[in-house]
Amino acid sequence: MLKEIYEQPEVLQTCLSHYLSEDHPLSSSSAYSFIPSNLSQIHILGSGTSRHAGLVAQYWLEQVAGIPTRVRSASEFLSAPLPLVANTLTIAITQSGETSDTLAAARQQKNYSRLADTSTCQLIGITNQSESSLARTVDHILPILAGNEIGVAATKTFTTQLAVLACLTVHLAHCFKTISQERSHQLITELQYLPAKIASVLEQQQDIIQEIAQKLALAKHCIVLGQGVNRAIALEGALKLKETTYIHAEGYAAGEFLHGPVALLEPNIPVIAIVMPDQSYEQVINTVRKVKFHNVPVIGITATTIPSAALQILDHQITLPTTDELLSPFLTIVPLQLLAYYTAVQRGLDVDRPRNITKTLVVPES
Ligand code: BG6
Repeated sequence: MLKEIYEQPEVLQTCLSHYLSEDHPLSSSSAYSFIPSNLSQIHILGSGTSRHAGLVAQYWLEQVAGIPTRVRSASEFLSAPLPLVANTLTIAITQSGETSDTLAAARQQKNYSRLADTSTCQLIGITNQSESSLARTVDHILPILAGNEIGVAATKTFTTQLAVLACLTVHLAHCFKTISQERSHQLITELQYLPAKIASVLEQQQDIIQEIAQKLALAKHCIVLGQGVNRAIALEGALKLKETTYIHAEGYAAGEFLHGPVALLEPNIPVIAIVMPDQSYEQVINTVRKVKFHNVPVIGITATTIPSAALQILDHQITLPTTDELLSPFLTIVPLQLLAYYTAVQRGLDVDRPRNITKTLVVPES
């Protein structure tokens, strides 16, 4: 797992280079020829970490490209399919391309599309395995090019899934003119800086994260807060902690946390808060103040531009380089992956073979 966390700058670079060629940064439109020309909505299907990548993308696709987007857990899809209308693009996300729930959901969507004669609908897959069962099911594959991932807890496949989804969002926003040419170039340029920024997080924040992990290892419960584009990162960070450390970790949107879950707070339940300099900053810092009022330790994942007065209420800080506020998930997830890894090691656990879970959940057909 640690090796794969450290491979992220390199694989992200490979993936971005595939989707953004240097002399024509918006990539050739043939790369996206599968997109219905009158695209009406996007459905995203996935499980676990792949679903969380879909939730980050939902924020991007709706807020940047203005496309109504729904994400459904693949395991719920058979009993609660999403209504299909003409010109729907469905994206099945699965790093392995073999997760039974995701395959079943993708196949069901394909059948619906046939029955409803919605020939304008398209089904595509985002996967690390171009020769997988998913690849044989969908109309088109967008590869994430992460190289083999062996660690049960997905890390580098998550950041490369995000890269594909970010490129797709910029392309759609550009096509539908929801952002200016200048803004799309800005986002593309910032995407290209991310591998180096992740490398600097891995190099500079390792010591503080190991120090925090020693304390976190003693906890039985933990809460992870994020908001806006980082809400899904709070969910993914909590999933990484559950998978590797067996600490009961839950991710919440910082604002929603105050509407009930706040009752959980106790001084021995640490809170990890993603405090980024973006639109959600006031809401997150307001929640952090309320959390501190209950004498709860707060670990902040912050950026260099956060005012120092606000940082004083945090018990620990993991400081990230600045990036475009839309793209911060590429950076905020990295300390959460490392924290999960080092906390599990501190608890004497086998990080690469966590109990009860498998890398790919395949249920044999009956
Ligand atoms: C689960 C794994 O069974 O499958 C998770 O335990 C993983 O770690 C999920 O995120 C989805 O896997 P995939 O291959 O469909 O992305």
